[in-house]
Amino acid sequence: MEKSAALSPITTRLLNWYEAHKRELPWREKTDAYSIWISEVILQQTRVAQGEDYFLRFMHRFPSVQALAGAEEEEVLKLWQGLGYYSRARNLHTAAKQIMSQFGGIFPTRYSDILSLRGVGAYTAAAISSIAFNEPHAVVDGNVNRVISRLFAVESSIHTSEGKKAIAGIAQSLIARESPGSYNQALMDFGSMVCTPTQPRCTDCVLRDYCAAYAVKRVNDFPVNNRKTSVKKRYFNYFHIVQGNSTFLQKREASDIWRNMYEFPLIETPAATDFIDLEQTMAFRDLFHCATSLTFDHQLKLKHQLTHQVIITNFYRVIVPGNYPFTTPFKAIRIDKEQLSDFPVSRLTDRYLEIL
Ligand code: ADE
Repeated sequence: MEKSAALSPITTRLLNWYEAHKRELPWREKTDAYSIWISEVILQQTRVAQGEDYFLRFMHRFPSVQALAGAEEEEVLKLWQGLGYYSRARNLHTAAKQIMSQFGGIFPTRYSDILSLRGVGAYTAAAISSIAFNEPHAVVDGNVNRVISRLFAVESSIHTSEGKKAIAGIAQSLIARESPGSYNQALMDFGSMVCTPTQPRCTDCVLRDYCAAYAVKRVNDFPVNNRKTSVKKRYFNYFHIVQGNSTFLQKREASDIWRNMYEFPLIETPAATDFIDLEQTMAFRDLFHCATSLTFDHQLKLKHQLTHQVIITNFYRVIVPGNYPFTTPFKAIRIDKEQLSDFPVSRLTDRYLEIL
């Protein structure tokens, strides 16, 4: 294909590289906005390899805005299970209903309307409008930050407004107006396949002649990132209570991680707490009243890393004798243990269930 003469040589090389090396991905066969939207939201915090299966399953179950809008939130969360960042799934569901009520069930085509959808920020709006509607909006994600900041040796941090403006401005100025969707995806693929965070493949790089960071042997200094991420430690003690065929689950409600998902009855403590100390807490007494006929055995300690938190978790199994008049703990529901897999649970709980 002939490229327009007005293109920067960087863009031309990038597009040629993309034609030869682009990844075959299920959403790349689609151009409808709904498919593109779902794929981009899945890919926001998920690696492409993991996202593929989720995309196919999601599209199979919810092939249209209408299908998604008509679903129960719990089913949407269940399909999302294991992907993390569950607010993405809740927002997709809310936005599908918004498309039904505000746009007559037709995916909006205007950038500003796309941006007004729940959970859709500048990145997703630019990806949808460029890939589905051929509109010249450049995307900026982690890959684009890296490629552009290296090519132009952008010295300001990607977390400052100056750095963001510089990178977005360059990405926009290089855009291929005739094929903005390919340009955006080329930058992202190039960032994940060639201009990688560590050990970038500079020897094979088709943009090397234009790379300011390469010219001064400072590729690893970019992107500049001045933010120290602080990780909060939390201590969860879960009780997997078993009485015959029953177990107990409760729904998380607080404005916290895993909202509206299910988990075993939980006592969160401000510091690491062993069982002896846990037994003395008010929460433990509320949960188990007089626990003399119950057997507690410590099953598993799991550490679960999230972006800004690490959850240090003890899972205890609690055996309740069949004839014991055990009252359902506050907030929890009694379920048959076979039903466990019907409820959306966090990856942490899923890990416990897998090991069990
Ligand atoms: N990451 C997120 N969306 C992408 C896309 N459309 N192509 C390549 N990488 C991506």
